[in-house]
Amino acid sequence: MTASQETAPLGPTPSRRSVVAAVGAVGIAAALTACGSGSDDDTSTPAGDASSGGGEKGQELAKTADIPEGGGKIFADAGVVVTQPTKGQFKGFTNICTHKQCPVTKVEDGTINCPCHGSKFSIEDGSVKHGPATQGLGEKKITTSGDSISLA
Ligand code: FES
Repeated sequence: MTASQETAPLGPTPSRRSVVAAVGAVGIAAALTACGSGSDDDTSTPAGDASSGGGEKGQELAKTADIPEGGGKIFADAGVVVTQPTKGQFKGFTNICTHKQCPVTKVEDGTINCPCHGSKFSIEDGSVKHGPATQGLGEKKITTSGDSISLA
């Protein structure tokens, strides 16, 4: 009475695979506008008209009162650092370090500082105060109208 019935279970049945290909692609484009720093290993020179960043001409950056005297403020979205080396004198520089194109992150003790390798640039003219960068920060034209500072 040996009943050796082979009742193999149906194994891996190729049951209905529901391939859901509905990938919501809504909103991806909106997320791309925030970061404007070129991370490519391109040989584009930061000086000149390389206006990476997204700052628009005439765009108001700040009020003059927002910029500390003897210091400055970084507007990463607009790709510009605004400094006030001496009272009432405002300057604009690109926020991209000339060494390896990191965005600068701090203005402190009279210099604009890059966090990547420690380069420092003068708040007066963007010149190199501390390497490894060998080229100063390029100027970004700004205008002051009343108490408002804008990209020129
Ligand atoms: S990228 Fe700024 S110091 Fe190297």
